[in-house]
Amino acid sequence: MLPKSQFSWMMPASIIWTLMVSTLNMIKPNQVNLLPEPSSMLPQGPRRVCIVTGSNTGIGLQTARKMAGYGYAVVVACRTASKGEEAAATIDGAEFIAALDLSSFSSVRNFVKAFKAKHDRLDVLVNNAGMNSFDGGSESVDGLDLCFQTNFLGHFLLTRLLLPLMEKTPEPRVVNLSSVMHHFGTDLKTAEDWKAASRVGCPNSYSDSKLASVLFSMELNRRFPKVKSFAVNPGAVNSDIWRVMKTKNPFLFKYVISPAFRAVYLDTDEGSVTTVAACVCDLDPTTSLYLQPYASPEKSKTCHPLGEMMGVFVGFSATKARLPGGDGAESGRGLWDASTDLCGL
Ligand SMILES: NC(=O)c1ccc[n+]([C@@H]2O[C@H](COP(=O)([O-])OP(=O)(O)OC[C@H]3O[C@@H](n4cnc5c(N)ncnc54)[C@H](OP(=O)(O)O)[C@@H]3O)[C@@H](O)[C@H]2O)c1
Repeated sequence: MLPKSQFSWMMPASIIWTLMVSTLNMIKPNQVNLLPEPSSMLPQGPRRVCIVTGSNTGIGLQTARKMAGYGYAVVVACRTASKGEEAAATIDGAEFIAALDLSSFSSVRNFVKAFKAKHDRLDVLVNNAGMNSFDGGSESVDGLDLCFQTNFLGHFLLTRLLLPLMEKTPEPRVVNLSSVMHHFGTDLKTAEDWKAASRVGCPNSYSDSKLASVLFSMELNRRFPKVKSFAVNPGAVNSDIWRVMKTKNPFLFKYVISPAFRAVYLDTDEGSVTTVAACVCDLDPTTSLYLQPYASPEKSKTCHPLGEMMGVFVGFSATKARLPGGDGAESGRGLWDASTDLCGL
């Protein structure tokens, strides 16, 4: 569950911000970083392969479409076979191989087996699937916090199992979906801290999982320099991630929340731009580890969370993430060790 203290100031702040943004959007930003034309990036050599998790809807579906447009053979990795097959059927160049439920370690292992049986290279892995924790406290089949395992640990295991294949591929990339909410992640340092945070009922699991995604990207770059890794805040996007609100308060959702989201949030097409930029653009993770879609002040040290929630859409922009201890080094090591243990690696 999102802690009440975070929610209470975020709601009114969002409304004020919404009004400011509507005005700001009338002003043309100086620098716009849109995606390169697919025709300028025609594939050379053997066909490159990309996996996008959670690609039956939302940001993931649009990411899969764009990557297929750049000539990648796209594997849509979804937890429900029928949804995955349906998504693949709408994208020229995409296939569904096997179900992938990130909240189950055995499902992740089965997916990797099925993928390796069909492909001998992996150029880009997009760890996109995710859930929010409005429901809070649910338990995964592995006895861990459902949200933390789905958003982070499942992707950690998936990546680790695929890394040997990626290391044999020229210029591989791993893109991890984070969020503005990483700013509110707990300052966890040691492996024991992170293990405690993955237990069922941890009150901050969404924010912690999104902070973990940034630290994981950082650690991947440090430990596997051949594999470029980026963390992405896609912005505030009008996707299915808000479905819990719809079930809980259908009237409010239909007449207030949904129209407000349509007015100021990015649509899923815009919401996928930052992710795709991390996959295909010429970027260096040592200077552009964390990307987000709004205009941010020149040379900003750390973007204020409000500036990452909504703003003038510029395509993609590198910003500094908020890391425990300033550089996140100790926290990143603790996270790596805890996750290795928890995933049974
Ligand atoms: N939307 C935003 O404003 C926003 C902001 C910041 C960050 N993000 C991040 O962006 C990513 C994509 O979110 P979205 O907005 O596109 O949400 P979405 O429309 O709800 O899509 C989420 C995807 O993840 C899949 N998924 C959920 N649990 C899964 C599991 N256990 N195993 C495998 N797949 C699972 C969903 O599958 P089903 O359809 O089967 O449920 C769906 O395909 C997430 O990581 C989210 O945290 C979103």
